[in-house]
Amino acid sequence: MIRILKIKEKYPTLTLRATVLPNSGEGKKKVPLSTVGRGTVGRCRWGVGLFLGYLCIFVILSSCQSADKIKLEQYYIGGKEIFEANCANCHQKDGKGLQNLYPPIAGSDYLQNKSQVILAIKYGLTGEIKVNGKVYNQPMPANSHLQNLDIAEVVTYIYNEWGNEQKLTTVEEVEEVLKKK
Ligand code: HEC
Repeated sequence: MIRILKIKEKYPTLTLRATVLPNSGEGKKKVPLSTVGRGTVGRCRWGVGLFLGYLCIFVILSSCQSADKIKLEQYYIGGKEIFEANCANCHQKDGKGLQNLYPPIAGSDYLQNKSQVILAIKYGLTGEIKVNGKVYNQPMPANSHLQNLDIAEVVTYIYNEWGNEQKLTTVEEVEEVLKKK
């Protein structure tokens, strides 16, 4: 800019197209090195401290999350085994049931009431029921040999596999339901 002004001074009649020369160095302030010193280093340390703090919080949170995930996976895998050993005979491995005899679990609207499901698993089910509008009336035998943990696992499996859930059904939830009966 200064250079342009000087040229203009020398040749007042000259019309200049460009008003700003690229890279004319304007806007870049030169700061004496001696003033860079402490302030910058101090700010740097602050930054590192903050970064480490955030990192710690992140690590703690994500390890909590993965512990939950591992537990969900354990229940799911255990539940799958229990299902295949105790339920798949009738409801089939894919949970789709068998004709008019055994109702489907996959996509079943009966799953909306989890307490009902827990009770059916533990004590069996008799009498007419409706699943997705279709009537079934065959006895389902009790599973009195299943412990509360087994039931929690198999319910976790069913609901994560076929019931749009992505969470654990806890032993406490099962206990709570069975206690009431
Ligand atoms: C001997 C066959 C048989 C076995 C084994 C069996 N069920 Fe059932 N289940 C049935 C029948 C039959 C019904 C319908 C009961 C009725 O008509 O009252 C039913 C109903 C259900 C229902 C409610 C209706 C639905 O489809 O959503 C659920 C949930 C269920 N069973 C889950 C299980 C689970 C979990 C196991 C294993 C722990 C299991 N069942 C084992 C035959 C069986």
